[in-house]
Amino acid sequence: MGLWRLRLLPCALLALVAAGASGIPPHEDAARVARYVVHACDWGALATLSAQEPLRGRPFSNVFSLSDGPAGPRGSGVPYFYLTPLEVSVRDLQVNAYASLTVSLAQTPYCKKKGYDPQNPLCAHIIFSGTVDKVNDTETDFAKLALFSRHPEMESWPRDHNWFFAKFNITNIWVLDYFGGLKTVTPEEYYNVTP
Ligand SMILES: *[C@@H]1O[C@H](CO)[C@@H](O)[C@H](O)[C@H]1NC(C)=O
Ligand SMILES: *[C@@H]1O[C@H](CO)[C@@H](O)[C@H](O)[C@H]1NC(C)=O
Repeated sequence: MGLWRLRLLPCALLALVAAGASGIPPHEDAARVARYVVHACDWGALATLSAQEPLRGRPFSNVFSLSDGPAGPRGSGVPYFYLTPLEVSVRDLQVNAYASLTVSLAQTPYCKKKGYDPQNPLCAHIIFSGTVDKVNDTETDFAKLALFSRHPEMESWPRDHNWFFAKFNITNIWVLDYFGGLKTVTPEEYYNVTP
């Protein structure tokens, strides 16, 4: 009995630690998986429709730092950005605010640890479609807290660049977190779920 306890206890502890470390919700809960991945990621690939010659009208994908809230068990689900009108993709957005944002657990230690290739659906990735919009004054405080707490360098970015806070206004969500193809999640499901 004593021996069993000694042998079982470390296994149970290890299982708990492993669950806490990965923490990814079950793949059936696609909305929760989406919220989990967004909160785990510090950046995303943002695709715009180029307004710059010679690419005008073609997709243009670029890296942006983001945050849906300060580090902690859960975020708001809203991807916030800190942008300047001098940035090439932001100039695209001024012409056409439609964009696509992709985040993936490949950006965290999770997939390497599990041995999942980034293209493997088990290395969960989320694709959003929508628009990138300036946040209003009410929301600015939270956007600033969310971004500056996870990207401390932002505070020292050149003041004369006219930085502003923006968010991804989500209209469509696709979740790739298991075999069998893309799953769709509505923005309502995404925002109403408890991550
Ligand atoms: C600011 O935006 C938030 C989130 O979209 C919204 O709930 C709030 O009503 C807006 N505030 C004002 C003053 O427009
Ligand atoms: C978000 O996108 C929807 C659909 O394109 C649009 O109707 C709505 O006005 C947008 N919200 C904001 C705050 O721009």
